Amino acid sequence: MSNADRVVLALGGAGTVGSGIVKALLDKGFKVAVISRDNSRLEKLRGFVSPSSRDNLTTLVGNVGSEEGAEVVKHTLLKSVGKVTDIVSSLGFSWWQGGPPHTQTLKELHWVIETLLFSTFVSWKVFFPLVRDDPNCTYTFITGGAGEKLLMPGTGFLTVGAASTLAFCQVLREEYPEVPCKLNQVKVNTGVAPPERMAPGYLNHLDLGEAVATLVERKNTTHTVFPVNSAADLKNVILEGNI
Ligand SMILES: NC(=O)c1ccc[n+]([C@@H]2O[C@H](COP(=O)([O-])OP(=O)(O)OC[C@H]3O[C@@H](n4cnc5c(N)ncnc54)[C@H](OP(=O)(O)O)[C@@H]3O)[C@@H](O)[C@H]2O)c1
Repeated sequence: MSNADRVVLALGGAGTVGSGIVKALLDKGFKVAVISRDNSRLEKLRGFVSPSSRDNLTTLVGNVGSEEGAEVVKHTLLKSVGKVTDIVSSLGFSWWQGGPPHTQTLKELHWVIETLLFSTFVSWKVFFPLVRDDPNCTYTFITGGAGEKLLMPGTGFLTVGAASTLAFCQVLREEYPEVPCKLNQVKVNTGVAPPERMAPGYLNHLDLGEAVATLVERKNTTHTVFPVNSAADLKNVILEGNI
């Protein structure tokens, strides 16, 4: 199947990480669908992708973080694109540094877990059946290394939330060892930003996007975690396939 025949659903595709992935996928000739709760983010995304590929981008307003919302938008999605062959999930938030745990509320922890874990779980549950049984299909999770350690003082809930997503991805690998769909995870252990907001040690979201798009295109690995610590890793780990 050529890239032009593949339709990638980018969950979180309007976000910082997701938009780099969406642009790279479109540049490789894939058709891409993006759902966001916020139409203005979708408009911004349409303005961001290469004009020549814009016709291959489908944008839909919806909420993939609620069971009802995800079912409704799945219906609309399938009506407009026909089928989905690949899914990339980069749901969550870019950064959280609200303070140490004793200063926090249960409500804040709820929000963090809802954003990083619940949305990832709900959308996986609703959309995975579209790709699950086909070895030519892929499902790729983008996760953060923040789940393995406290990045700096005051970022504890980011660690808790990111760790829950890491655990969820591990559970999927172990619960579904034989699933035909190619199930992979890119674990990014650095900050990610667009070129105009880069800080030392950060990855450009376009470079990360290109690596993720290559992984989707290749579809030759499954149940694999690709750790990314630097721009060099993107090339070595993903583009050249050395783990
Ligand atoms: N940014 C970084 O530095 C970095 C570094 C390492 C790893 N990561 C990974 O990348 C993920 C995304 O980061 P990002 O910087 O792209 O964040 P972002 O710009 O805030 O985008 C996050 C996306 O998640 C969606 N989302 C959040 N909560 C949701 C909910 N409750 N229901 C449905 N959708 C929800 C948002 O959808 P709407 O469009 O509907 O608002 C948005 O599109 C992180 O969670 C992390 O795993 C990021």
